[in-house]
Amino acid sequence: MDKSKIQTMGQQAKRRSWAEPWKIKMVEPLRMISRAEREKALSEAGFNTFLLKSEDVYIDLLTDSGTGAMSDRQWSGIMLGDEAYAGSRNFYNLESAVRTYYGYKHVLPTHQGRGAENLISQAVIKPGQYVPGNMYFTTTRLHQEMAGGVFVDVIIDEAHEPESTHPFKGNVNLEKLEALIKREGSGNIAYVSLAGTVNMAGGQPVSMANLKALRALTNKHGIKIYLDATRMVENALFIQEREEGYSGKSIAEILKEFCGHTDGAWISGKKDNLVNIGGWLAVNDNELFEELRNLVVVYEGLHTYGGLAGRDMEAMAIGIAEAVQDEHVRSRVGQVRYLGELLVNWKIPIVQPVGGHAIFLDARRFYPHIPQEQFPAQTLAAELYLDSGIRSMERGIASAGRDSKTGENHRPKLELARLTIPRRVYTQAHMDLVAESVLAIYSEREKTRGLRMVYEPKYLRFFQARFERL
Ligand SMILES: Cc1ncc(COP(=O)(O)O)c(C=O)c1O
Repeated sequence: MDKSKIQTMGQQAKRRSWAEPWKIKMVEPLRMISRAEREKALSEAGFNTFLLKSEDVYIDLLTDSGTGAMSDRQWSGIMLGDEAYAGSRNFYNLESAVRTYYGYKHVLPTHQGRGAENLISQAVIKPGQYVPGNMYFTTTRLHQEMAGGVFVDVIIDEAHEPESTHPFKGNVNLEKLEALIKREGSGNIAYVSLAGTVNMAGGQPVSMANLKALRALTNKHGIKIYLDATRMVENALFIQEREEGYSGKSIAEILKEFCGHTDGAWISGKKDNLVNIGGWLAVNDNELFEELRNLVVVYEGLHTYGGLAGRDMEAMAIGIAEAVQDEHVRSRVGQVRYLGELLVNWKIPIVQPVGGHAIFLDARRFYPHIPQEQFPAQTLAAELYLDSGIRSMERGIASAGRDSKTGENHRPKLELARLTIPRRVYTQAHMDLVAESVLAIYSEREKTRGLRMVYEPKYLRFFQARFERL
């Protein structure tokens, strides 16, 4: 072989290679079981990757939620936990970090993102009110519905098209929103539920211009905007790269500017904030804060711990500052893109452009012979596990659940299997292995059969549903 022809992956992609801004200090061994053992494990798990034991998984791409690696500084912070019931110093460090980097006035810790979703939904939704949002998220929509709200999808149409290369597929379609306000009246809109980036659309970002226009429209009608800031740091990178006027601004500056156009935010700290558990809710309005501070005691804990140990709040406060470093975000999203580039080169159908936290395999194009009622994305996740012990998850008809009024299945346009990359955990070689396994099951796709659901839980069914092969 002519050695002068050997190229790094960066050179092959016609760019300079990037590298992680950290080195490894501690490792956790991985274990790969045999194909026969995987068959048994998957069958016992009812073909649902959420029901697998993690010891039976080789590379775990189920989620980026709480699965990241903390830094040595965060682990040091754990030792500085002030486990007082009230007024822990770690709470004040967390409050200060949220104020510094996200810019909101009042902060409440919660045990994780859905705890914050519950509080904001209960505090601001009156039964029967509409909650327009840029695509639904499973737990977010459920809390909105449990508070009596009616979710309405007002994302741009391109978000539902896996092949559209729109640079900001998370944008709100302002005409759809305006039509809803006109039809129902602004008093019947609880708030706009804005997510940056949009998980269910494939980790797709919202542009600053879209947010500014949304702010102008909502101001006209006296409607608040609350932000799901779970992956907003990643959204800031896309703004920096793709939006005019932002290439010279830091991630931290963009994040703060973005949040400055909203009235409050909630977060699952298990993603951007680089912790294994934790969340928070932050608002600017004094009166609303009083209400939330009262509610948090009922569901989470006193307002200075909200269901978290002091040490967890300290790790999150440190994680917030680490997460907004430009080199961190670039390498985090860079690793996701690296995997995406390999798959695109091999003509494997994925959602494009590649988003911030995951590669979404397009199960409709992967398995065109499997109808949506036979769970093509669930099937894909099962096949990937059988091939190599890689755990992914379904984001399609099983995740979409049923209409809360009619009981009919939601039938989402997007039928996806998500390969979610934990932060600071896996290497480029792991990504190569994942890509090779996807290619292997793609080559066998015509022989693959779908699934039928044999057990369906009432809430968030995708977590615990069971399936059988057809
Ligand atoms: C966009 C988004 N919002 C909210 C949540 C809920 O957060 P948690 O899992 O911490 O309850 C998640 C978690 O996956 C998420 O991805």
